[in-house]
Amino acid sequence: MNSKAFGPIPPEFRHFSALPWLDEVTPAYVYDFGVVAARIAGLRAALPSQVALHYAIKANPLPALLAGIAPLVDGLDVASAGELARALGHKPAEAVSFAGPGKRDFELEAAITAGATLNLESEGEAERALAMGERLGATPKLAVRVNPDFELRGSGMRMGGRASPFGIDAARVPTLVKRLIAAGADWRGFHIFAGSQSLDTAAIIETQAATIALARRLSDEAGAVPPLVNVGGGFGIPYFAGDTPVDVAAVGAALAQAAATFAGTQFAVELGRYLVGEAGVYLTRVIDRKESQGETFLVVDGGLHQHLAATGNFGMVVRRNYPVAVAHRMQDGAEEIVSVVGPLCTPLDRLADKVALPRAEVGDVIAIFASGAYGASASPAAFLGHAPVREVLAGIPHT
Ligand SMILES: Cc1ncc(COP(=O)(O)O)c(C=O)c1O
Repeated sequence: MNSKAFGPIPPEFRHFSALPWLDEVTPAYVYDFGVVAARIAGLRAALPSQVALHYAIKANPLPALLAGIAPLVDGLDVASAGELARALGHKPAEAVSFAGPGKRDFELEAAITAGATLNLESEGEAERALAMGERLGATPKLAVRVNPDFELRGSGMRMGGRASPFGIDAARVPTLVKRLIAAGADWRGFHIFAGSQSLDTAAIIETQAATIALARRLSDEAGAVPPLVNVGGGFGIPYFAGDTPVDVAAVGAALAQAAATFAGTQFAVELGRYLVGEAGVYLTRVIDRKESQGETFLVVDGGLHQHLAATGNFGMVVRRNYPVAVAHRMQDGAEEIVSVVGPLCTPLDRLADKVALPRAEVGDVIAIFASGAYGASASPAAFLGHAPVREVLAGIPHT
């Protein structure tokens, strides 16, 4: 039987077995804040100074993590009233924006009352926000999310270039901007998010240039200069064999050039997984070793209910293996081919498929790396009634 490849272990975790977590209660996510701070510092060095850095908290909303990240970024992007309340605990409302279709009236009310920016997803939502502002006697801060006529090439999740529940088709945007300004709203500009998890540096550069050109065209047609253009992000992280990191220095240099063509406007990038994804490791303990028809299964105490993405069930077309190791034997050579499976009674509950690893015994810990984004909060925790996963923040913020 041939083994299947798995992704690259993030550099900071290559000597992971020295960490004290192996004797701790599993399953658990451990996040190393030093890695988050390093990614943010790297972005700051690469991005031009007129480009603000926003954290999309959906990637990982753990309060302790958010408390560390908030002082290091310029803004927080949220997608529900729950995330809004969390973000407002860490940033002033001027630095918080709220995107996502289907915002309910109580969500519009919460954002307008607080003074956060609403990224409008439809003309209907725009009218409800204007009416809510009138009812509250407050001037709503409104940006228009544009459904661009292009998508981010190579992205794991495309959000443009097609009919979409997200944003307003570009051709209708100038009319809406005029309407918002005429109605007395505080028009904040554009939000243009074309995709997520792209490792293709050239595609990111091309998309950002197209985004800025689109924003320019729409503002010319609307006859108004946008205070802010949020150009999205979509910077991916290496998850799978053969993946290589985005060249953020090249992206930053190209963005500086593109942004320079648009005077009087501030730009922002909105990133989730790039900031936190590589900082997290999921630790799960071997409960049983079993053989079936010549294959070896390591049955572990964690699984799909806590880490849906690593099982390939969170938006993947083809299931591939996340970076994985026997946590206390990281430097040892492979001895056997195993599949790491969780305790749920579904064949989908497979954290690693036919990977070559050193031998792991019952009680040993398996580490799944690149697990800091879309982990605990993006998994069906209630399925089969297991206890919630522990989440631990290690290290302290480096400012
Ligand atoms: C509007 C919006 N912003 C930000 C993100 C975060 O994307 P990522 O975590 O890949 O950076 C997403 C992802 O779905 C999104 O839809």
